[in-house]
Amino acid sequence: MNLDAVKSISCHFEKGKFYVLMGPSGSGKSTSMQLINALVQPTQGSILYQGKPIETFRPNEYRLKYVSLIHQNFCLLPFLNVLENVLYPLPC
Ligand SMILES: Nc1ncnc2c1ncn2[C@@H]1O[C@H](COP(=O)(O)OP(=O)(O)O)[C@@H](O)[C@H]1O
Ligand SMILES: [Mg+2]
Repeated sequence: MNLDAVKSISCHFEKGKFYVLMGPSGSGKSTSMQLINALVQPTQGSILYQGKPIETFRPNEYRLKYVSLIHQNFCLLPFLNVLENVLYPLPC
């Protein structure tokens, strides 16, 4: 069975403004954040950053410089210590 986690969404975010994504549980908030952060790819449509599709950026560069996501459940790697978890996403 196919399920549309996020369907027919269209929005535009402006620099310097503060936005809140609200909705009932299961309405697609987390999936939207994962799409914006390029952790998952949309099956249809496109996500643009500064007018360019986000897949044209190198993922590490995109997340390091432009878009960051703080996970609800932290997503820490248990075999690393605190400092190593913080340093892990940084480029070598
Ligand atoms: N990995 C997944 N596999 C299957 N269904 C998923 C997955 N992630 C989310 N969903 C479904 O997509 C819908 C939106 O989920 P989600 O983005 O987590 O909503 P929210 O964060 O608003 O609670 C829900 O119906 C959820 O069950
Ligand atoms: Mg959620």
